[in-house]
Amino acid sequence: MNFDLQKIVRENIRNLMPYSSARKEFSGAAQIFLDANENSFGSPLAQNYNRYPDPLQTEIKEKIAKWNTVKAKEIFVGNGSDEAIDLLFRIFCRPQIDNVLICPPTYGMYAVSAEINDVKVKRANLTEDFQLDWSAIQNESDENTKLIFVCSPNNPTGNSFQREEILRIVKTFGGIVVVDEAYVHFSPEQSFVAEVNNFPNLVVLQTFSKAWGLAGLRVGLAFGCEEIIDLFNRVKPPYNVSEIAQQAILRALENKPEADETIAKIVAEREKLIEKLQKFSCVKKVYPSDANFVLVKTIDAERIYNFLLAEKIVVRNRSNVELCAGCLRITIGTSEENDNLLEAISKI
Ligand SMILES: Cc1ncc(COP(=O)(O)O)c(C=O)c1O
Repeated sequence: MNFDLQKIVRENIRNLMPYSSARKEFSGAAQIFLDANENSFGSPLAQNYNRYPDPLQTEIKEKIAKWNTVKAKEIFVGNGSDEAIDLLFRIFCRPQIDNVLICPPTYGMYAVSAEINDVKVKRANLTEDFQLDWSAIQNESDENTKLIFVCSPNNPTGNSFQREEILRIVKTFGGIVVVDEAYVHFSPEQSFVAEVNNFPNLVVLQTFSKAWGLAGLRVGLAFGCEEIIDLFNRVKPPYNVSEIAQQAILRALENKPEADETIAKIVAEREKLIEKLQKFSCVKKVYPSDANFVLVKTIDAERIYNFLLAEKIVVRNRSNVELCAGCLRITIGTSEENDNLLEAISKI
């Protein structure tokens, strides 16, 4: 592999003099803070939020670093992993010159972020059995391809890709390979986070929105070599994760056993739901899933979607997406919600 980080970073970012926030310039033990134009009188709430939060979310990173075999400096905390996706474009992709490669059907924000940043999207569709198509990836990528997005487990198909196939891309591609592990906690597959120590061109994304049940806080993670994480920190808005979110994440991290229990429940519900869905005549196929949702091929996605909506149940119609004709994507609910869904489908 021919990878040179400095060479693939946009010139304006390489030369960027980052904003230096008050909380970054001073982090000692002063008693009177008159440096950040905050409101020293407090907030009109029971709890005060008048101070800016830690711009580098140090405590969170130290906790997460302990669980993964990475250093705190190899972790970026963002306003959802969507922020990390956008930052990757801004750091590496020259508008109207560079391109990125995605493997559809996959998470829609990669292409939307590309569009927003005026960066071309190349597509190497998955194979019929939803695996990565190595030769399509090779054919589609060129010298201006800066990012390859690999979502595993993949949204909306739900499956994980073969580890060796992902590693083959990481080992051969001269740009950044982004392995999006938003759903990895529901999967028996091993995370790629530890691999960031072995590959300087690997960025792994995770999120608190799924397994941790904290989508409303908007907190996501990127793992990568220190140099890449340093670039994220230079480009991100200074205070990108709020004090409320940081405090709640720290409390949640203390309750990991509870989060693990929820994951186990979702996985058990998923397997029950897959088995039951397969029995309906309107269901052609339920794809195996390593995520907290299942992709279901039906005889008529539009009709079933509308029928469920009339029953006050909303699922995601993915029938217009590549390789997903007739498909609905159904998030795993609570046991009761899943029973209601099954009962509604039985009326079709
Ligand atoms: C594959 C994938 N990556 C990232 C995200 C975004 O996660 P976040 O809530 O952390 O922005 C999603 C959300 O659905 C997703 O499906």
